[in-house]
Amino acid sequence: MADEPFESDLTHETLLHDLNNIFETIIEIAELLRGDKRWKSLAATLGRSVVRGQRLLGALPDRTPGLAEIVDDAVQFTTDYCIVARKPRIRFVREIGDNIRLPGSAKDWERVFVNLFLNTVQIMQKPGRIDVGTQQSNGTLIITVSDNGPGIPLEILPRLFRPNVSTKQTKRGRTGLGLHIVASIVHKYSGRVVAANGERGKGAIFTITLPLAEGRKDVVCQD
Ligand SMILES: Nc1ncnc2c1ncn2[C@@H]1O[C@H](COP(=O)(O)OP(=O)(O)OP(=O)(O)O)[C@@H](O)[C@H]1O
Ligand SMILES: [Mg+2]
Repeated sequence: MADEPFESDLTHETLLHDLNNIFETIIEIAELLRGDKRWKSLAATLGRSVVRGQRLLGALPDRTPGLAEIVDDAVQFTTDYCIVARKPRIRFVREIGDNIRLPGSAKDWERVFVNLFLNTVQIMQKPGRIDVGTQQSNGTLIITVSDNGPGIPLEILPRLFRPNVSTKQTKRGRTGLGLHIVASIVHKYSGRVVAANGERGKGAIFTITLPLAEGRKDVVCQD
């Protein structure tokens, strides 16, 4: 009988361990499906989703936080989501300056863009468009993400970034967290994010402002 005293460990690390086992099973399934040409494309989607989950949980090494690559990955994930969730397709138009490196961790920034993009996808009733652009002025990097959807309901606009603010009609899990995650990550890197609607209330516009401090090496921006 093992009765020696032990320190129990049910921390985040051990949760990761068990989640990784789940990921391994899904990867095996994806590999099996990849062999059949009817399922090849869905198998690739499954594989990409698992890799994203593993990266978010820290089970895979993080990448260099290059803005263009992070947006590419978020676009890929959103496009995968549109296909499997049978949502209208979204066209992405990117005008991103060269060699922009964001501060901190790529997986944080991927969460920012995925949450912004998914909101548009989930609100659109027909195919739409998302524009992602960058500007640099007065030591500041400005990233705008805008869409041509219906715009943000005015009654929630003033408290949009607080948790649990949502118009989603779903019984699955907690909602109203996406934009709170976005704002929390932007604040973590000393930035700010504001939301507005376009002319005549059409289309949502999110503007992220990040300091480009003099001599700071983690945000390199060459337009
Ligand atoms: N691009 C957008 N266009 C119009 N409304 C938006 C847009 N993005 C967010 N909203 C509104 O803001 C609300 C809050 O968004 P948020 O991402 O925080 O939560 P959610 O999408 O409702 O739920 P969750 O992200 O947790 O699944 C949404 O329910 C929606 O009403
Ligand atoms: Mg959301």
